[in-house]
Amino acid sequence: IKKIGVFTSGGDAPGMNACIRAVVRTAIHDGLEVVGIRQGYQGMLESNFWDMSARDVGNIIHIGGTILKTARCLEFKTPEGTKKAYDNLRSYGIDALVAIGGDGTANGASRLSLTHGIPVMCIPGTIDNDLYGSDFTLGFDTATNTVIEAIDKIRDTAASHNRLFFIEVMGRDSGCIALRAGIAGGSEAVLLPERDTAIDELIEKLSSHANNHKSSSIVIVAEGDKNGGAYHVAERVKEKFDFYDSKVTILGHLQRGGSPSSFDRVLASRLGFAAVRALLNGKDRQMVGLRGNAIVLTPLEEALHFSHFKLEDDLLEMINVLSI
Ligand code: F6P
Repeated sequence: IKKIGVFTSGGDAPGMNACIRAVVRTAIHDGLEVVGIRQGYQGMLESNFWDMSARDVGNIIHIGGTILKTARCLEFKTPEGTKKAYDNLRSYGIDALVAIGGDGTANGASRLSLTHGIPVMCIPGTIDNDLYGSDFTLGFDTATNTVIEAIDKIRDTAASHNRLFFIEVMGRDSGCIALRAGIAGGSEAVLLPERDTAIDELIEKLSSHANNHKSSSIVIVAEGDKNGGAYHVAERVKEKFDFYDSKVTILGHLQRGGSPSSFDRVLASRLGFAAVRALLNGKDRQMVGLRGNAIVLTPLEEALHFSHFKLEDDLLEMINVLSI
């Protein structure tokens, strides 16, 4: 391997820049050339390539988003698109790839490598924390901290007005952000895609809290929860339970931005460094992740087969216990 390509794809996540920096600098340190591919798979189709130096990744470790930009690309998913991307990579001399992104990104990299034989390493970069092969994905810690900051602020006003707040958080089909934010933000209930919560069950809980002299409450609703989103949940609760005045806040895309936490910066650096070293050691088609406190490689087939992260049982139980 002489020249590696690095790109970000899918939704951006805080820590992606720190990871690009680690890939670029490790590669250059180890005698490789590095090409940044702008806008993910779209950039491969358009040969949107950037010969990167160590200085190009200076002063970005603390910045959210991704300097390589990102996109979701449908054309790449066709066999013709995949071939065109591969041909463009090869004609630019790129002979291995580091892909930073979520499951769509890893699926694309896997397809490119399976059909055309280019070595790939995938780094889990998404706020959703929904990839198998890593206890934590890049950006999840920062996004959860952002959510907690918002919950803390909402709590001030909820308590002052004796109100019930429904706060909707991101995560697509994963309840990881919701569950952790629920624990760390001291919420009364969390509605998760992984667990069906009947509205009556929620009302019963809120009533028992009200009877127990709670003057305000916070309910976290994961966007993937089957009840149909925070507004819908709030409406249905209001129909039968009006002890509190209730309000809804959808946190939305502010959860994707911001300066990465120290945890995400260190994770990004470790994963980027390990991905380059793994390619140099002849590894291919792996997800680079963190398990326990060790950096581990998981074959892409396995990582993509078990696509969902399992929520921790103790956290699930604790929500009920600690909110009485
Ligand atoms: O995958 C990251 C994520 O932020 C999800 O939590 C959310 O469902 C989705 O992306 C939003 O995507 P978009 O930015 O394309 O609206």
